[in-house]
Amino acid sequence: MNDSVLHANALTKTYGAARALAGVNVAVTRGESLAIMGASGSGKTTLLHVLAGIVAPDSGSVSFTSASGAPIEVTGQSETARSKLRRERFGFVFQQGLLIPELTAIENVALAMMVNGAKRQEATGHAAAWLQSLGLGGMEDRRIGELSGGQAQRVAIARAQVTGAELIFADEPTGALDSRTSAEVMDALLWSTTGQGRTLIVVTHDPQVAARCSRTLSMRDGAIVDAEVAA
Ligand SMILES: Nc1ncnc2c1ncn2[C@@H]1O[C@H](COP(=O)(O)OP(=O)(O)O)[C@@H](O)[C@H]1O
Ligand SMILES: [Mg+2]
Repeated sequence: MNDSVLHANALTKTYGAARALAGVNVAVTRGESLAIMGASGSGKTTLLHVLAGIVAPDSGSVSFTSASGAPIEVTGQSETARSKLRRERFGFVFQQGLLIPELTAIENVALAMMVNGAKRQEATGHAAAWLQSLGLGGMEDRRIGELSGGQAQRVAIARAQVTGAELIFADEPTGALDSRTSAEVMDALLWSTTGQGRTLIVVTHDPQVAARCSRTLSMRDGAIVDAEVAA
């Protein structure tokens, strides 16, 4: 059995004259860490957004197979259904954490579970456990502005994981960090995803980040030009 968690077929997307995706096929295996590299403008973010059901492609399909269920055709779902899928099954980490500055670290993480219907007390308990395991014990009550860039990214990682997401999408998660902090954030990201049997798809410019993933795809002009499996 090919244990594919995500399968994309012949994806295309244009924005006016810009061809962001020019026929992309990708299969993502459950438990792998997949890096997507390529120059700025090559279509990496568009691909990530289409795979995650944030952006609808012009043509082609994406199907997601949960560990516990039948394949779901992401591209065939309504916006409401895709939104539910993203909230419940997927986790997201962006370059700037996109955390809510008025809330504390623990509130930012707990909120992700509460929007899925969890009670505050339960969500707070899970959030505390994730923050602790990502090395943020003692920082639960800090607001985001009171954390370093690397700490804020670890809060964003906790938020992406706390819902039990099976598939984590990260877009330049270390793009704003120095190399040492970047390595620490990658430790956290890999431990919390593939380390727990989850799957990670990470867009990055940084060869050091890609080198830590189990596989790298390179994009140019909206197409995958090169694929390699780490030794
Ligand atoms: N929302 C958008 N509106 C218009 N053009 C876009 C939009 N998103 C991406 N593009 C264009 O699509 C191409 C691919 O962009 P993107 O996927 O952001 O690349 P990357 O993440 O590799 O830098 C670029 O030419 C970009 O200008
Ligand atoms: Mg991008």
